[in-house]
Amino acid sequence: MWGFRWLIFRIMLGAGLIKIRGDRCWRDLTCMDFHYETQPVPNPVAYFLHRSPWWFHRFETLSNHFLELVVPFFIFLGRRMCIVHGALQVLFQVVLIISGNLSFLNWLTIVPSLACFDDATLGALFPSGPGRLKDQVLKIQEEETRGASAPRTRAGSVARGTVNLALGILVAWLSIPVVLNLLSPRQVMNSSFNPLRIVNTYGAFGSITRERTEVILQGTASANASAPDSAWEDYEFKCKPGDPRRRPCLISPYHHRLDWLMWFAAFQTYEHNEWIIHLAGKLLANDAQALSLLARNPFEGRDPPRWVRGEHYRYKFSRPGGRHAAEGKWWIRRRLGPYFPPLSRQDLRGYFTSRQWPYPEPE
Ligand SMILES: *[C@@H]1O[C@H](CO)[C@@H](O)[C@H](O)[C@H]1NC(C)=O
Repeated sequence: MWGFRWLIFRIMLGAGLIKIRGDRCWRDLTCMDFHYETQPVPNPVAYFLHRSPWWFHRFETLSNHFLELVVPFFIFLGRRMCIVHGALQVLFQVVLIISGNLSFLNWLTIVPSLACFDDATLGALFPSGPGRLKDQVLKIQEEETRGASAPRTRAGSVARGTVNLALGILVAWLSIPVVLNLLSPRQVMNSSFNPLRIVNTYGAFGSITRERTEVILQGTASANASAPDSAWEDYEFKCKPGDPRRRPCLISPYHHRLDWLMWFAAFQTYEHNEWIIHLAGKLLANDAQALSLLARNPFEGRDPPRWVRGEHYRYKFSRPGGRHAAEGKWWIRRRLGPYFPPLSRQDLRGYFTSRQWPYPEPE
């Protein structure tokens, strides 16, 4: 249990520290003005929470700091405070689950948060009274203690104590670089410090993007990509924003990994994300496996596109009840420019060969 408590302590404190070190908006309390719109894969709740009054966003940011920088210390302040810590952490994670598609991260974080709840606390969840579940368990426990032979119990508890102590010393020893990292002004997130990759450091993102941009993949059947009359059609992803009229998805704890990667790609360039060119090549061949990761292929049942390009757009939530929302738009988007230029299958031959990727052949 102390192993789990130590784990949740450093997860939360690490996340809190990397934030105040990493981004000004955590210090001037404006981060939540941006977070709902710019998080990886917003959901419909985020759409509405984004419009909360400014003081509510300040309150949210302050609450985040309280939960990540103060509440973790409750673990070491006795049984009662530890339970308060557990309850607050579970509540915090549930709020995060409701307000965004952060995959399984929050569900996973709930697990070590439960380590503060002892039998007496959890007992409240089960029916009591003669013959009910709690009563039955107590009887089983009594019989076990009476039935077990004394020497075996003693040997067992010595062995268990020794293993626990050894594990405790090991974790304490492996925690030294983790604690040094927590104290360091150049704190890193998500890193391992030993070859066995145990007792690592985890952390949420320190910085918040201020603007949401999206890469929109498009294809055309036109022979000439630069002809003004060539019709470009959008590929639609399963969850990430694309068609402004499509409602944001609600998918937690499921994780659409490609959609998540597209979020990173959008604030970098295609040179940082060569896999996106790989994907473009697959789309140029109507590759069934790649298309199974997308929600809509505009070239379904047709020849593959002659050209595929990536366009860079800026996305903002429409205002609930506003003009765009009345037109059925959840998003307002504006084109920023190209993300990668129109590519044909022939164009990609050299690129694929030099990276030893199998050259996509239409099926
Ligand atoms: C493609 O279209 C552009 C713009 O209309 C034109 O300048 C160019 O010559 C065309 N290319 C070919 C190969 O037809």
